[in-house]
Amino acid sequence: MIDRQPSSFFLTFEGIDGAGKSSHIATVSAYFEALGRRVVTTREPGGTPLAEALRGMILRDPMDTLTETLLVFAARRDHIVKVIEPALARGDVVVCDRFTDSTFAYQVHGRQFSLAVIEQLEQWVLGSLQPDLTLWFDLPPAMAAGRLADARSPDRFELEQTAFFERVRDGYAQRAATHPARFVCIDALGSRQEIWQRVKDALARAKQR
Ligand code: TYD
Repeated sequence: MIDRQPSSFFLTFEGIDGAGKSSHIATVSAYFEALGRRVVTTREPGGTPLAEALRGMILRDPMDTLTETLLVFAARRDHIVKVIEPALARGDVVVCDRFTDSTFAYQVHGRQFSLAVIEQLEQWVLGSLQPDLTLWFDLPPAMAAGRLADARSPDRFELEQTAFFERVRDGYAQRAATHPARFVCIDALGSRQEIWQRVKDALARAKQR
């Protein structure tokens, strides 16, 4: 891990497909820019040309879960080395749509893949790097499914059944319980304005820590 500036801030967004997190990411980035911060807005899998190419395969090509997991971590490694660590070394705010908590929620819980393998990969790929704050947009999968139904061309994850997303949601709940200092659960039921207020409250509380 390269040296981080004390002013750097690493913020991640998590939640099941259809929880509505993506629509708040641009707003959060604009919020930090209005405070005079330099912001890098990015996503996983993705964030670099190589990782974006892997994203296309991860979301569309049939593969077994170990292959899926290795590709997710390969994309993550490239993203960390080329984008996230340099931004944190400059003292920027990094706003990332999904990060390693997605792997615990989707691959360990959703796909019921080995926790030990993923913990080992996490150690190799991340070292000591962890988000400073993780906003988990929580919504019952049955409600998220309604939003997903509007997706024009669903990917391999969006095609999964409600039971898969129930497991993914349980996975997030477990991550939140084991990482209480950085996890905030955002109730994703409500108007856009109500949810944005919850996000702003969480950011204000994080600043006071
Ligand atoms: P998502 O971020 O929801 O993008 P979009 O809104 O364009 O669909 O899609 C990424 C998908 O990848 C999502 O279904 C979760 C999955 N995913 C994993 O399974 N493991 C991971 O580690 C990450 C980062 C994502």
